[in-house]
Amino acid sequence: MSSNTERSLVLLKPDAVRRGLLGEILSRFERKGLAIEALELRTMDAELADQHYSDHVEKAFYPPLKEFMTSGPLAALVLSGDEVIDVVRAMIGATDGRKAAAGTIRGDFSLSNRENLVHASDSPESAKRELDLWFPGRF
Ligand code: CMP
Repeated sequence: MSSNTERSLVLLKPDAVRRGLLGEILSRFERKGLAIEALELRTMDAELADQHYSDHVEKAFYPPLKEFMTSGPLAALVLSGDEVIDVVRAMIGATDGRKAAAGTIRGDFSLSNRENLVHASDSPESAKRELDLWFPGRF
């Protein structure tokens, strides 16, 4: 049996904190068998938002996204496990909660393409960049 242990940077966004969904979402990751290697309640400032979303800063949806992401505390976590990057992306579902499949986190709990509860790294390269940004020197 082959295994490809990876790490992913996952953010439980301010809507997840405000709506009291941290336990529900963390529980899904734990029951899947993923390891939580770091977990911190943090508030994103404008500079971190621009760095984290550097691919999106020119897009029309970025100003309200930045406003939302800096609007209150979020939970920043590092998850690890076999193919965790793809596994977590499958568990959170499509970006737009209205279109995300039932059974996914966004499909079950979000009706928005902005307030979609969870961010997760989408490739090994973005995981490395995001882990360095959120947890410098730790992973
Ligand atoms: P995330 O996985 O954090 O990556 C980029 C974020 O931008 C995305 O989740 C959404 O929160 C937001 N986003 C992406 N597309 C749109 C859109 N069309 N309108 C509003 N927000 C969006």
